[in-house]
Formats: sequence, C-alpha cells, structure tokens
Amino acid sequence: MLSQQIIDCLNQQINLEIYSSHLYLQMSSWCAYKSLEGCATFLSQHADEEMTHMRRLLNYLQETGAFAVIDGMQAPPTDFNSLTEMFEKIYGHEKLVTSKINNLVHLANTEPDYATLQFLQWYVAEQHQEEFLFKSILDKIKLIGTEGQGIFFIDREIANMAANRTQETTAMN
Ligand code: FEO
Repeated sequence: MLSQQIIDCLNQQINLEIYSSHLYLQMSSWCAYKSLEGCATFLSQHADEEMTHMRRLLNYLQETGAFAVIDGMQAPPTDFNSLTEMFEKIYGHEKLVTSKINNLVHLANTEPDYATLQFLQWYVAEQHQEEFLFKSILDKIKLIGTEGQGIFFIDREIANMAANRTQETTAMN
C-alpha cells in the first residue's frame, strides 16, 4: 500500500518519462529533417526507451492497486540552433530526471517505504548510465567539432552507437 504522496510523485515521474519520449522523438524528427540520419535513429531508439521507463512505473503503480494518471503535457521544443545545443539540452534534461528520481528515493527512504525504495534502485542506476551516455556524446562533439566534415563524422559515430544498441537489444531478446 503506497502513501498518496508516493503515488502522486510516481505519477509525476510517469508523465516526465512520457515527456522525455516526446522530446527525443521531436529531436529525432529535427535530425531527420537536417539529414542527420544517425542522430535521428539514435534518438528515435531513445524515445522508445523512455516509454519502457514509463511502463515500469505504470506497472509498479498498478501492482500496488494505485491509480496511474496520464496528464495532458506540454509540447516539446521543435527548433534548435545546432546539434551541440540539442545534445546540451538532452544532457540538461537527463540531469533534471536524475534530480526527480533522487527526490523520489529521498521520499521513499523518509516515509519509510522500502518496497518503493527497492523499486527505484533500477532508475538510480539507469540515470547514471543516461548521464554518462549523453556526457560522452557531448565530449565527442567537442572533440570532433561540427565544422565542415565534422558533423558528418559525428553523425556516423552516433549511427554506430544506434547500431550497437540494436545488437544489444537483439541479443537480450
Ligand atoms: Fe527515463 Fe532518460 O530517463
């Protein structure tokens, strides 16, 4: 049995994960429009991953007999000045998601709600990976640069990351 405060915060997290999915799908669309196919594929995959994060939370709420509520949500931004700015926004967004997970962990620990605390451990590890992933992409962009052919090499690099992700997912299934 979850407290109402935990239910409310888990519902907020569900909606943040859906927003994350919309954000990355919109960014994927922007990349496709700019002929950055590798980035478009990578971000489309990532949009799908965010929906799996949402579903984990949804299932957890439903298993406890709580009511999951999907909000109306704001539209994601549609335009970006550059690929660098777009990935900086993603990194910032992932740091926001991490802070929300940390708040949830703190709440579960304070109540205490040990089942939710345990459930949230997966998200703690996942956010560590997500921040690492996007920080490493930003580092690559800074290293290679986006001038001239740089953008082509970055897109190819990110296409390789998307292909590796597909292989990992196939191997897991
Ligand atoms: Fe579900 Fe990228 O955090």
